[in-house]
Amino acid sequence: MNATSDLKKDHLFVRRFGEVIQKCSDKIYAGKDSDILLEDLEIASVIMEELIDTFHHGKEEEAYFPSTNNKNSFSEDVRKFLIEHELGRRISRMFKRELLIWRKCIIEGKQTGSKEPIARFLKSYAVFITDHLGKEEKFLDIVEDKSIISIDEDRAIRHRYELCKNKSGGQARIEELLKLLEYLEHRDWMK
Ligand SMILES: [Fe+2]
Ligand SMILES: [Fe+2]
Repeated sequence: MNATSDLKKDHLFVRRFGEVIQKCSDKIYAGKDSDILLEDLEIASVIMEELIDTFHHGKEEEAYFPSTNNKNSFSEDVRKFLIEHELGRRISRMFKRELLIWRKCIIEGKQTGSKEPIARFLKSYAVFITDHLGKEEKFLDIVEDKSIISIDEDRAIRHRYELCKNKSGGQARIEELLKLLEYLEHRDWMK
């Protein structure tokens, strides 16, 4: 698998996650969220942080973009992608903060507040995923069609992907995170 198709493959689990959180958000907005546990949302937060941001965005920011940035006047595209990653990070942080407040209320035996912010951040993140991946995939298609990356460069990018994977806790952690995604996909509220 080359460096470009590797990212496209990651996008499959990112999109699957987008569907999960969209569903979750819809259910909360509809008031049909009694079986969505705080633990489910905490898992979603971990997936955002570790699997999507540290791992997938890490590969793009530390390996793929630096190698494509200076070619074919891609720098403007790459600049926009980096800004979008920041947006994703911001939503993910705000979402996590809401979960921490909720968790604190439970620990202290206090009434939990409105879940509206949680539904809103989930929806925002789902929109971010659809929008960002759509643009990125057009970019990846051009890189592939025009054979922008040489064989040697491709090898170097893939080597850096491995370093990113290690930074994310290695293969075992990635597999664990994918299992957590699968767990969410099979929760009753996903039906
Ligand atoms: Fe990206
Ligand atoms: Fe991506």
